[in-house]
Amino acid sequence: MRDSVEVKARTGGAELERVVYTAERIAERVAEMGREIVDAYPEDEEILVLGLLKGSFIFLADLVREIARPVTIDFLVASSYGAGTVTSGEVHLLYDPDAVLEGRHVILVEDIVDSGTTMNRLIPMMEDRNPRSLEVCTLLHKHIATDLVREPRWVGFDAPREFLIGYGLDHSENFRNLPFIGSLKAPE
Ligand code: IMP
Ligand code: MG
Repeated sequence: MRDSVEVKARTGGAELERVVYTAERIAERVAEMGREIVDAYPEDEEILVLGLLKGSFIFLADLVREIARPVTIDFLVASSYGAGTVTSGEVHLLYDPDAVLEGRHVILVEDIVDSGTTMNRLIPMMEDRNPRSLEVCTLLHKHIATDLVREPRWVGFDAPREFLIGYGLDHSENFRNLPFIGSLKAPE
C-alpha cells in the first residue's frame, strides 16, 4: 500500500510530504488503547462511545472492536472547518445524538485535537447532560491548545504540527480512505 502508485490511486495524484503513521503502527496503538479503556472501567458497566464525525469514523470502528466490554455507539456531527486547513473558531452541531447520556459512562472519540476549539465547545454541552463519567479519547493530539477544558484521557499519538490526512482525516473531504496517516505537502 505504501507503494506510490497505489497511494496515487487514492489521492488523485496529490503528493504527500511523508507517511507519519503506518497502518501497522496505528493498528498496534489502537489495540493498546482498547485495552487501556477496558482497564479503566468496572467489568460489568456499559460504555457509550460517542464518535465525532466525520474524522473519527475509521478510528472508532477499529477502536470499538478492541474494547472487550458492552458498548453502545452513537455519533455527533460538529463542523468547525470550511475548505481550509485553519480552524474558523466556530463549532456547529449538525447532528445531535438520540442517545441518553444521563447516568452513563461516555467516551467522546475524536480524530485529532488541534486548536481545542471543538473539544472546548463540546465538553460543556455533554456535561450538561449529566453523564456518570465523561472522558475524551483522541487518536492524535497536536498539543497546541493551552486552554483545554479537559485533557483527553487517552491519546493515540502526540502528533507533529503538520496537516495530517488519512485514516479518516481529510483535507476538503479528500484522503479519508488512506489506510495510513500522512502529511500533506504545503502548496507552493
Ligand atoms: P480543533 O477544534 O482545532 O481542535 O480541531 C478539531 C478538528 O479539526 C478535528 O476533529 C479535525 O476534523 C480537524 N483537524 C484539525 N487538525 C487537522 C489535521 O491536521 N488534519 C485534518 N483535520 C484536522
Ligand atoms: Mg475534518
